[in-house]
Amino acid sequence: MSVRALGSEPLEETAVKELVRGINNLWGLSPTIGGSSAESAIVVGTVEKARAAYPAVKLPITLAPDAFWIAETNASGKRIVLVAGGSERGVLYGAYALLRELATAGWTAKTTISEGPAMPVRWVDEWDNPDGSIERGYAGHSIIFEGGTVRDDLAPVAEYARLLASVGINGVNVNNVNAAPQLLDAEHIKGLARIADALRPWGVRMALSVDVASPQKIGGLATYDPLDPAVKAWWTAKVEEIYALIPDFAGFTVKADSEGQAGPASYGRTPADAANTLAEALAPHGGVVLYRAFVYNHHLDWRDPKADRARAAYDIFHPLDGGFAANVLIQIKEGPIDFQAREPVSPLFAGLERTSLAMELQVTQEYTGQQRHLVYLAPMWKQILDFDFRAGGRSSPVKEIIAGKTFHRPLGGMVAVAGVGRDRWLGSPLALANLYAFGRLAWNPNLKPEEIAAEWARQTIGNDPQVVSTVVKMLMQSWLAYEHYTGPLGMQTLTDITGSHYGPNIESSENNGWGQWHRADHSGVGMDRSSATGTGFAGQYPPAVAKLYESAATTPDELLLFFHHVPYTYKLHSGKTVIQYIYDSHYEGAAQAAELVREWATLEGKIDQPLYEQMRDRLVYEAGHAIVWRDAIVQYFLKLSGIPDEKGRAGHSPGRLEAEDARLDGYKVIDVTPWEDASGGKAVSCDQSLARSCSAEWTYTGPPGRCNIAVQYFDLQGGVARFSFQVNGRAIVSWIADASLPSRRPNGDNSTRYTVPAIDLVSGDLLRIEGTPDGLDPAALDYIELMPAEAPVLP
Ligand code: GCU
Repeated sequence: MSVRALGSEPLEETAVKELVRGINNLWGLSPTIGGSSAESAIVVGTVEKARAAYPAVKLPITLAPDAFWIAETNASGKRIVLVAGGSERGVLYGAYALLRELATAGWTAKTTISEGPAMPVRWVDEWDNPDGSIERGYAGHSIIFEGGTVRDDLAPVAEYARLLASVGINGVNVNNVNAAPQLLDAEHIKGLARIADALRPWGVRMALSVDVASPQKIGGLATYDPLDPAVKAWWTAKVEEIYALIPDFAGFTVKADSEGQAGPASYGRTPADAANTLAEALAPHGGVVLYRAFVYNHHLDWRDPKADRARAAYDIFHPLDGGFAANVLIQIKEGPIDFQAREPVSPLFAGLERTSLAMELQVTQEYTGQQRHLVYLAPMWKQILDFDFRAGGRSSPVKEIIAGKTFHRPLGGMVAVAGVGRDRWLGSPLALANLYAFGRLAWNPNLKPEEIAAEWARQTIGNDPQVVSTVVKMLMQSWLAYEHYTGPLGMQTLTDITGSHYGPNIESSENNGWGQWHRADHSGVGMDRSSATGTGFAGQYPPAVAKLYESAATTPDELLLFFHHVPYTYKLHSGKTVIQYIYDSHYEGAAQAAELVREWATLEGKIDQPLYEQMRDRLVYEAGHAIVWRDAIVQYFLKLSGIPDEKGRAGHSPGRLEAEDARLDGYKVIDVTPWEDASGGKAVSCDQSLARSCSAEWTYTGPPGRCNIAVQYFDLQGGVARFSFQVNGRAIVSWIADASLPSRRPNGDNSTRYTVPAIDLVSGDLLRIEGTPDGLDPAALDYIELMPAEAPVLP
């Protein structure tokens, strides 16, 4: 068997190499490259070349640029599989599609595949800084930058481009949207050109985030007013300089007038003025501007019941509709706030009918567990893509709006903030399913999340049906589990919104200008965004949807508290009260996280062992952290509402022995902030200037029996504390606290659970934890919890 290209264009050659490599990986065969027409072969080429080479084959009459057509046919008496692309890039995508079919056993001699992408812009954004750090990245340092400049070794960038191309992604914006202006100086542009060179063999184009104040910051001009002729000339010259070295440069991404970034508002100009100045410079070269609609005032007055961050994008951009140049896309985050566990779809998608749009999603799990938690986001994205605005009374789902279909726009797309780094791309092996799913949905938003999950699992984890079904089940449960144990009913992720965006911190969103309010007080919870009595945000949707969200009675339960402030006793459609739902969902969510551990355990021995172990450790950690989340939220709302949990769980933790109640030697009792992040609001901490190690001791008073003993401690940055557990003076186990978790203070970011399995106890036994601080980590301890040994072990 051989693989050959009909032409010698670089992407056709890439396609041949990928087919050879893929077939070798799949079956251990080594097809020859080239070969003659006398043998069966896979033949790839653009549709024009295919037509010339095989006039008898019925090829499609037209094939869009990135599209492809694949079929098995007869040529000179030999069977060939012909992969024809609408462009060179289409050829490469066709090669990957064929490999996907072969790997997932979908290919038969009768198969014909004819596919094209739903939308032209399919990009990832990397929020990488020149120093190699990554904004909201959770997988180590940048593969792109280091020490203020582009890295010498760009081999990982080329590998990344390959990964992206394999799912149809055609652009990478390589630097943080909070852009470092120096990247536009002559020296850096040379480095950037090397990145573009590394991406090019995979058909991936490079884009850059720019600071609109660059003409002043690095250009020496007195102004950056987008309407100033000198500013326009500066951008024109800068763009020419870029294209001289990067002829296929894709364009600019812009964050302006947002979270401290400079913007046109400084000169009384609009986003359209700024976007169009850049667009005008890029247009002659075929570049585009992705201007972000993430523009809002983060100094809102929280006492003003009409103030609402969710309104900002629509209020600012809707009046500008029709005023953007043809090569501008407005890049809109999927929800009106900021990548929360759940939000309604941003109403702006239906509010710009004469403007091209792109939807921004996050693969990097900023508010969804930062890859330490398994959260497969495709089901969330799919709900968003399928959401029907009923604009103009007609079917107008998001997926058709951003593809440019609904409002007949020439451009459109999807952009994911990816956050890949040097730690296995995304840190967690299963988090890569999100990157895969993003590419697949940008290609075809009609695909189902479970089909994508199965495709990914078969190609990445293993083809065994039990492996595939288990991985798919786990992925499909994961987002709802996370939503349940963090912030359900549209309350948003109840995390520390001014800091880590990771652990629970319910009040961090209140009483400040950031506008992520949930307005929980002693009598009720939720933000009134109705038009009648609230901020009017609901009225930004087209009438049918606005009507749905206007009333609490018709708002879907999962978004109730995003749109309405209701008493805790308000009854959901399910008949349950809001407060009982808050309790139940958190206990259910934590139980679902524990279930993920059990499901993964069934794969031991059936999949790659290091992969199994890496993921097992993450899932065990997640299950422990889900308990931290659960307990923080239920104890907070129990205290605030004063309404008990019907099922008696909130506020009662049988088997829990608090550290502050133990006999302490060296340990001092501390208040944890926020209080809900520790059981009872308190923990104990060992000051290493006073003691080399500290201990906490309890006397067991229960019936004789076998217990698993969970130890809840705080694993702080800046040191590797040690813990040991003893029964009656006998050392049972010791472990180190060496995880890399946010925050330098003991709180819900770093509260961690270690479970000691199967300890036989009788009344009077002495249980002792010894903690040895190290560096900045004071070996702080929250509690131990004794659970009957038949409960799952979460070490
Ligand atoms: C979030 C995120 C920031 C980021 C911003 C953006 O607020 O926390 O780090 O800069 O989004 O999308 O611009």
